[in-house]
Amino acid sequence: MNKAKRQAVIAGNWKMNKTPAEAKELIEAIKPLVADANCGVVCCVPYVDLSVVLEAAKGSNIGVGAENCHWAKSGAFTGEVSAEMLASMGVQYVIIGHSERRQYFGETDVTVNQRVRAALDAGLTVILCVGESLEQREQGVTSELVAMQTKIALGGVSKDELSRIIIAYEPIWAIGTGKTATSEQANEVCKTIRETIAAVYDEDAAEAMTIQYGGSMKPGNAAELVAQPDVDGGLIGGASLKAEDFAAIVKAASEG
Ligand code: 13P
Repeated sequence: MNKAKRQAVIAGNWKMNKTPAEAKELIEAIKPLVADANCGVVCCVPYVDLSVVLEAAKGSNIGVGAENCHWAKSGAFTGEVSAEMLASMGVQYVIIGHSERRQYFGETDVTVNQRVRAALDAGLTVILCVGESLEQREQGVTSELVAMQTKIALGGVSKDELSRIIIAYEPIWAIGTGKTATSEQANEVCKTIRETIAAVYDEDAAEAMTIQYGGSMKPGNAAELVAQPDVDGGLIGGASLKAEDFAAIVKAASEG
């Protein structure tokens, strides 16, 4: 596999953190620190922060994303936000299928697929999350599970549309726990995902796919993780909330 064929992307997932005023401050702090990045840089932020973050990121190399979207264009779905609404604001990215959405809000592979479809139709780029729990890893089903999550999520997605898909492998047991997957473990599963893309689409599609690792990625471990042949950057939770830490990870990916 030829790593040079694809771009590494470091994306922050702010989760349920930062008020609009705090969000503005954080983006302003990140901006100069990542200005000469040699990789993609994205910040995915709470819905209420999108306006200020879009405004503050204008003219910079920071892409702006949301953390979820609904599958319908509009309708009686209290509390939800559509992909169309996001796109109309100028949002470019959206995280879909994060394990916290699956775990706490009942999202399934099928609803993840519907959300992916809606996001693509609205013109957004999707950061699609897949990953196993500790129990599933111990049962030895990680490869099958992650392949299945990937296949179902991408149902009805054409090869051309894959240019607007980034896949993030996030082992649930490594999220927010300080317990990072070893670089070998991360690479092994990212490779499985790439082989799944090759099987469903073809080798070219697999080689071009950006596949991130996520789960306690920090300045101290980022360089080793992103240096792996099948790891193309990261999806960062906690460390994306500190400008210096996020920038250090971007630097590691730029050099890797
Ligand atoms: P942490 O980096 O805080 O472990 O979170 C990872 C994550 O869930 C990113 O989506």
